[in-house]
Amino acid sequence: MTGSTDWEDFFSATPVPTELERVEKEASDFVRYHLSRGKPVALVSSGGTAIPIELNTVRFIDNFSSGQRGSASTEYLLQEGYAVIFLHRKQSKYPFTRRVDQETFLQAFLADANSSRVTVREGFASQLHTVLQEYQNCNASCSLLSVPFLYLSDYLWYLRTLAHVLSPLKKQALLYLAAAVSDFYIPKDKMPEHKVQSDGGPLKLELQLVPKMLKPLVCLWCPEAYIVSFKLETDISLLSKKAKEALLKYKHNVVIGNLLQTRKESVIMVKQDEEINIQISHEEQSKGIEIEQKIIAVVKSWHSEYMNL
Ligand code: PMT
Repeated sequence: MTGSTDWEDFFSATPVPTELERVEKEASDFVRYHLSRGKPVALVSSGGTAIPIELNTVRFIDNFSSGQRGSASTEYLLQEGYAVIFLHRKQSKYPFTRRVDQETFLQAFLADANSSRVTVREGFASQLHTVLQEYQNCNASCSLLSVPFLYLSDYLWYLRTLAHVLSPLKKQALLYLAAAVSDFYIPKDKMPEHKVQSDGGPLKLELQLVPKMLKPLVCLWCPEAYIVSFKLETDISLLSKKAKEALLKYKHNVVIGNLLQTRKESVIMVKQDEEINIQISHEEQSKGIEIEQKIIAVVKSWHSEYMNL
């Protein structure tokens, strides 16, 4: 008997990211700055975590998430007056740039052949102007801190550290956990050092369960924060039941349930005494309205109620 918990064992056996100390320092400065101005701070997690199958990693198993939910929600939280730590999967969707696709980027700019001047082509200026102006406002107020990850182990170390950093904000902290987090992994001591060879025949993998980190997050790391988690299902008949079970089990504030197939049009938001359905019509979508805008309006109002309790 060691007396340690499964999540403590996980961290003892999992290497600390090389950037952790720097990230912790930057996040502490960020939180101190906004705390002194009375601004609420949100930690948004976004994108999928990957788990390597070799120490010298050629292959990994991925969790699906484009990063749309997290990056769009970040923009709306910034609009609602939050400062945001954006803990995101490298190369997944990012606030502001998500609204300019690669093709638009290439088409929008014109390089002068005789000088180093770059101009914006007619027809693209207003779209780019809106995005850049929002980005510049956010930059001027130092309201966005970016923390990228690729692997599950890095994500979980950052989550734990950032939750500790946010903890002094007490009720003013919001954790909005939209990342798609792996439930299975291969511990470091069970991973082959080199690339798995295909001449050994079909590959058999044994994956271990990742401890559910919501438990220590809610009880120990950031106990007074307003914590919103997501529940992803593919079967509609399970969604409401699973979301309520998660709320009961982890005793945090809100579970947002979504189906993989309809996540851009419909979610349920469940808290202790209420369950609401948020939907977005095709007409609203065609006007560029996103479901994240509606979700964040509700999150902000519930978080404000909580702060005033
Ligand atoms: O990025 P998009 O393409 O827009 O897609 C958005 C989304 C569908 C990924 C997002 O809306 C979403 O549902 N994210 C959560 C996905 C997920 O991990 O669901 P889950 O049912 O596996 O986990 C439920 C909760 O447990 C999550 O809050 C997760 O952070 C937490 N968890 C999961 C695994 C683990 N080891 N520890 C955890 O605490």
